[in-house]
Amino acid sequence: MKRIFSGIKPSGRLHIGNYLGAIKNWITLQDEYQCVWGIVDYHAITVPYNPKELEERVIDCAASYIAAGLDPEKSILMLQSQVKEHTELAWILNTITPISWLERVPTFKDKAKQFSKSLNMGLLDYPVLMAADIILYKADAVPVGEDQLPHLELTREIVRRFNNTFGQTFPEPKAITSSGALIKGLDGNSKMGKSLENCIYLDETPEEIWKKLSTAVTDPQRIRRNDPGDPEVCNIFSLHKLFSKKEQIDYVNNGCRTADIGCLDCKKILSNNIAAELSPIREKLIELKNNRDYLKDVLNEGIRKSKEIAIQTMSEVYDKIGTNYKFLK
Ligand code: TYM
Repeated sequence: MKRIFSGIKPSGRLHIGNYLGAIKNWITLQDEYQCVWGIVDYHAITVPYNPKELEERVIDCAASYIAAGLDPEKSILMLQSQVKEHTELAWILNTITPISWLERVPTFKDKAKQFSKSLNMGLLDYPVLMAADIILYKADAVPVGEDQLPHLELTREIVRRFNNTFGQTFPEPKAITSSGALIKGLDGNSKMGKSLENCIYLDETPEEIWKKLSTAVTDPQRIRRNDPGDPEVCNIFSLHKLFSKKEQIDYVNNGCRTADIGCLDCKKILSNNIAAELSPIREKLIELKNNRDYLKDVLNEGIRKSKEIAIQTMSEVYDKIGTNYKFLK
């Protein structure tokens, strides 16, 4: 069976961008592939964070995975920091990765602007740890949102360099994206992101969803109720395409163009549809967060299983790079 690795960093509650760009796609892949879903906590500490909150975020992330539909009976759910081989392999990959490759990564350039006074090595090295996450499991494919594609491309380059230097060891992982691969935030402008306050979170109530949607940005040309709008430039319409039925999509598409319906009418339909999809997830999430023993068992089992694979890969890596010292045996 071919293998998949993907992960989310526990830097805040998961939002519908994570859900549509990643998790929803992951669920469909669970039967076809052997899947390893990581909670990548060592990626979350590359920007300022509160150590006292990290554990709760990990728990929230694990509960969100399962509540959204990942099945621990089918897939491995693991926690990156608890499988030390991730950081060990990242170090080895560091020795073959030119700094210039890392400096040209778009997310690094953004972070370099955002954290110009506190730019740390972890931010530069972030994609190398990500490459290690993936190739430690010899993953053939990585389902991610569009923002991660440059990281995937870099992983493939690192794999090629490793294989050329030390002999064929790792497959070149391919990216799998979904129709929701780039969800914009409620500002209608930037990517929906945990740090940007422009999200609908997976655990929001119907009332909270409506409150956020009612003020979300729409087609900027549609100023008055009677102005006809252009759905193709409206972020609310992009969300309709992912949450609404075909008839509803046609209805709001036509209604907007002819100004038969207003933005609030259109948003109300969307709000109800998002709430209908998220409500079972929210309920399951609350239930799971109250069942810490279950989450603990799932993660411990996932860590055990992923470690088995990781140890095997590393034994091969030690042979290849020459640190499997015979004289010590
Ligand atoms: P992270 O935690 O930012 O996001 C997790 C997943 O959610 C997707 N995503 C989105 N998709 C569509 N629209 C959005 N607005 C949106 N926001 C987030 C991301 O594309 C991603 O698939 N570097 C990764 C974590 C990581 C990883 C890995 C991923 C570490 N190691 C190995 C895959 C394989 C990240 O920061 O994702």
